[in-house]
Amino acid sequence: MNLPSINPTKTEAWRKLQVHFSEIKEVHMMDLFNQDKERVQKMNITWNEFQVDYSKNRITDKTISLLLELAEDLGLKEAIELQFEGSKINQTEDRAVLHTALRDFDIMKPEVKKALQKMKKFSNAVIKGKWKGYTGKTITDIVNIGIGGSDLGPKMVTNALKYYSNSLKIHYISNVDGDHVSENLKEFNRETTLFIIVSKSFTTQETMTNANAIKNWFLQGATQLDIEKHFVAVSTNESAVIDFGISEHNVFPIWDWVGGRFSLWSSVGLSTCCAIGYNNFEELLRGAYEMDLHFKNEEFSKNIPVVLALLSVWYNNFFDCESEAVIPYTQYLEDFLPYLQQTVMESNGKSVDRNGNTINYQTGTIVWGNVGANAQHAFFQLLHQGTKLVPVDFIGFSESLYNNKNQHQILKANFFSQSEALLQGTYKQNEPNVYKVFSGNKPSNTILINSLTPKSLGSLIAVYEHKIFVQGIIWNIFSFDQWGVELGKKLTNQLLFPS
Ligand code: F6P
Repeated sequence: MNLPSINPTKTEAWRKLQVHFSEIKEVHMMDLFNQDKERVQKMNITWNEFQVDYSKNRITDKTISLLLELAEDLGLKEAIELQFEGSKINQTEDRAVLHTALRDFDIMKPEVKKALQKMKKFSNAVIKGKWKGYTGKTITDIVNIGIGGSDLGPKMVTNALKYYSNSLKIHYISNVDGDHVSENLKEFNRETTLFIIVSKSFTTQETMTNANAIKNWFLQGATQLDIEKHFVAVSTNESAVIDFGISEHNVFPIWDWVGGRFSLWSSVGLSTCCAIGYNNFEELLRGAYEMDLHFKNEEFSKNIPVVLALLSVWYNNFFDCESEAVIPYTQYLEDFLPYLQQTVMESNGKSVDRNGNTINYQTGTIVWGNVGANAQHAFFQLLHQGTKLVPVDFIGFSESLYNNKNQHQILKANFFSQSEALLQGTYKQNEPNVYKVFSGNKPSNTILINSLTPKSLGSLIAVYEHKIFVQGIIWNIFSFDQWGVELGKKLTNQLLFPS
């Protein structure tokens, strides 16, 4: 069954939202807080270790109910069901969208179970030093060679969960930049380094160029027969992997119903699994699965991804905000933004609707940001006093991992005070210096999580995955293809190999 395809701007809810917008666009949130003492309690969702406070948004109860009406008018409920039951909702590629099946521990597909077992066996052997290199030495370094979804997701998770990692050193090579590859090769020891080539298609030019360069470097000191001990691959294209010279036993599967940017939960996450061990990797999946259940079953008014998505639509399509910022208050999430940029923008950067018509309203938001408190000393000036309205998601953790109470107190104080400053500005303060006046009234969500664990990270990533889905449904676009990237690839090849 196909997704519903309704132009959102033609719905009754959209029309009502337009009228409502003209009524509240100038209202200051401080007045809304003063008028409604229960605002904070009402606009809050507590779920597992998460507390999502969305009270600092330019909304009233009416805004929320109209946004929920919009979701209903556009068939969000049935769209969610279609996704989870495996309908081919990625219509332009004739594929299902089932990254959620990679972490469904209740009805796990046999092939997923088998792949997880293979990952477990492999990662255990490497971690415990049972997997030996061609001279009999233990593996010390793992290099993930891949790009886009075959790099950004696993790299982000590996770095985010560093606290849980073992002594293996994990590296990521993505760019087709020979200098970068050469700099890395200087550090690697052929005898103790294992390479994971991750490419769903096994044809991506950047990845294959790097993989071949690295294989040639390897063969300068070892033989063809030694490849088996140092090269494994994650791909759907088994024959190309074997042609490359990798043993069929060293191929980890992925399926066409898993999009590249949603694939970190599959064997694409093998480097992460080696870094943190299988049990932690499974916890990551379980965290995502719990969020899947919340997304699928919770009513929309208390549904974290749904509420965050609708708020984002509110700013994107009514306030004409072009971008939104995400600021995680932990250095561990340093790579979260590049990861999010691919998942969000490759998914929802579309301008043709599900009926094949050119769209005349805004779709995909631009997502940007960096970790706090660093970001405060970089671009926060623009957020506070610039001319652009940029809604912000603040992500913070109640507890630090090393229990360094004093510093964590300071980090948390920054986390809470920035959203307050954006909200209040110098509201009703008699600030005589015009340069020190802050209008305030800048929207933000605060997502407070107990602590950064494999499980809570899994849930957090799934929040954003589902947010993307909801927005794609509202905007009536296909979120799971990426035809726009293909033209550039074609032109590069024409430049390199003119016919
Ligand atoms: O950039 C386009 C893209 O297809 C991404 O969607 C994908 O994550 C990346 O290239 C890598 O693709 P592959 O895993 O097939 O090498």
